Amino acid sequence: MAEPEFQTARAEAEAWKSPYEQWKGSEGLPTIRGYFIRDLLDVELTPWESRGGAGVFVNLEGTGGFNDTYICEIPPGRSLQPIRHIYEETAFVLKGRGATSVWLDGKPKQTFEWQEQSYFSVPPNAWYQHHNVVGDEPARYVAMTAAPRVIDTFKNLEFVFNNPFVFTDRFTGEDGYFLEAPRDGKRGPWHTNFVADVMEASQRRGPVDRAGGWNRAIGGFGASFAMVNSTVRSHSSGWAVGTYKKAHRHGPGIHIVILKGRGYSLMWQEGQPVERIDWGPNSMFVPPEMWFHQHFNTAPEPTLFLAIGWGSDKPKAGGKQYVYVSTKEGGDQIEWGDEDPTTHREYEAEIARNGVECQMGDHHPFCTHT
Ligand SMILES: [Fe+2]
Ligand SMILES: [Zn+2]
Repeated sequence: MAEPEFQTARAEAEAWKSPYEQWKGSEGLPTIRGYFIRDLLDVELTPWESRGGAGVFVNLEGTGGFNDTYICEIPPGRSLQPIRHIYEETAFVLKGRGATSVWLDGKPKQTFEWQEQSYFSVPPNAWYQHHNVVGDEPARYVAMTAAPRVIDTFKNLEFVFNNPFVFTDRFTGEDGYFLEAPRDGKRGPWHTNFVADVMEASQRRGPVDRAGGWNRAIGGFGASFAMVNSTVRSHSSGWAVGTYKKAHRHGPGIHIVILKGRGYSLMWQEGQPVERIDWGPNSMFVPPEMWFHQHFNTAPEPTLFLAIGWGSDKPKAGGKQYVYVSTKEGGDQIEWGDEDPTTHREYEAEIARNGVECQMGDHHPFCTHT
């Protein structure tokens, strides 16, 4: 039998809650955990008194405490409470139409309008207030934030939520900050702080690269977004019917939200069992740090997802960056030809059930179609 002191220490450790967990508790909302949310629009929300709406916190397995998301609904015709915080926050609108006012103390407010599929990032520590402009329908958004690591680092809610510091390198209250910027230059990220319609913007340009290139796809399309003076990076990614992407791995916290299409993803740690996630519109999941993951389109239409995170911001162990060359060359990507042969066989069997033929042909050495 264990010593009494050990039992006390164990009980204390088990009862301990991080400052971030305590903060969530004080907001009165539950937390959804696990690998995956089937449909962000179906998730039940709880009244969120301090914000004036309803919400739920989401801490998916793959974030490892690096970031979080929450889902929030703004009641019909109402505004949420104004708020500011020193951590980053990026929002994607799932449903409805509204507007957001953003301001710094002593500077004029600026207000921009949004709708379903809009995407924007609020600069750290700027005041903001969300409004639902529709009188008979709630508006719902999902936001990704750095709250877990910021609150757990500073351990002081006054410092996080009531701090006069102005991040002038991000935002000085300048006019037009939340106008969608023109997307010039064929290559490189799109520097804008607001995207009116991610789905439309991602499809505007057609395929973005050669098959199997940096987007790891065939018929790949999408956009990479550099927001808040280029400090917040994320991207969307789409690919063709009858195809799937190459597997790769990176840091934690990239929240994949499916905008269009149906399919599945495989996620695994080297040498460990494979987790399979079946997804459709408004599914969300996070590949855990250093887990390979691979996305398969099984539907008779192209797939598109939005990956809300900070690129692969957290360095690989040893302070390195991830390198998207073959694992055979020491990189973090598995070429199609190096896959377990069952991967392609199962994919072809799966899409055949949907009446879709594999289009990987010459790009994939195991493909039975040409
Ligand atoms: Fe990824
Ligand atoms: Zn094939």
